Amino acid sequence: MSTALNDLDSSSPAALSLAGKKVVVVGGKTGIGLGIAHAAFAAGASVTVASRRITSLEDRPDLANYEQIILDVRDEAAVQKAFDAIGPFDHLAVTAGPEFGSWGNFMDADMRGVRNYLDGKFFGSWACARHAAPHLRTGGSITLLTGGLAVRPKIGFSAVLAAFSAVESLSGSLALELSPTRVNTIRPGFVDTDLWKDFSNDERNALKEKVRSSFPARHAGTIGDIGHAALFLMTNPYVTGIVMEVSGGENLVPSVF
Ligand SMILES: NC(=O)c1ccc[n+]([C@@H]2O[C@H](COP(=O)([O-])OP(=O)(O)OC[C@H]3O[C@@H](n4cnc5c(N)ncnc54)[C@H](OP(=O)(O)O)[C@@H]3O)[C@@H](O)[C@H]2O)c1
Repeated sequence: MSTALNDLDSSSPAALSLAGKKVVVVGGKTGIGLGIAHAAFAAGASVTVASRRITSLEDRPDLANYEQIILDVRDEAAVQKAFDAIGPFDHLAVTAGPEFGSWGNFMDADMRGVRNYLDGKFFGSWACARHAAPHLRTGGSITLLTGGLAVRPKIGFSAVLAAFSAVESLSGSLALELSPTRVNTIRPGFVDTDLWKDFSNDERNALKEKVRSSFPARHAGTIGDIGHAALFLMTNPYVTGIVMEVSGGENLVPSVF
């Protein structure tokens, strides 16, 4: 009888609530990271956003609800210092990554650009996970971020593909090593952010239209879509070691880029 009752209790769905929790988003002041910060805040968390600068609230009143800290993911000592200063918290998301460089095709690549990309994306994610882990409370999680290039090679993007695949592999390994902290990765498809700022408005709108008309979901990804996925990964206690593709089905159809 009591077993049946226990089974009933444990069959309640995990709530998508972060009330009373503290979330740190590295890269959380713009783009996908901001989508995760907004989703966590809306779910009741207190949110800290970290990046290489402090942004004035006059310029960005939408950051008023968030604590800001400075952290360059390429500087491991600074990463450790920042997490030591933050202290105990519940969930980490790392979206920070260097801008795509013009390091050229594989045979022509400028190795400084390649190393800089891997340093920021791969070792940056590594350093954040490593120095955040000791501060994560029981029930906590780490969410890393890659992109569709992890599984769809594209000429000129070997460094990005290598970094993304390495992050995805690392996340599985950390799900074991940091257990019971849960570790997952989101692999987004196209998301309308300033990553595309070098496109003119017309080009950006044309790209979004192409995405809408060709991706199976018939939708151009938003930062809110990725925030929603991150909230699920933070709150579901049975999900660890996965790569969750949130891409509108991008990898099922020919590339639009
Ligand atoms: N948007 C897409 O379509 C898309 C699709 C798939 C994958 N992705 C991947 O998603 C990630 C985030 O992209 P996004 O679109 O959100 O771009 P974004 O808006 O440019 O965000 C990047 C954030 O990272 C921070 N950052 C950069 N370098 C940093 C460093 N060394 N240390 C700490 N913070 C750093 C930046 O803040 P500061 O400049 O203030 O430091 C910025 O807030 C990238 O890795 C990107 O490749 C994007």
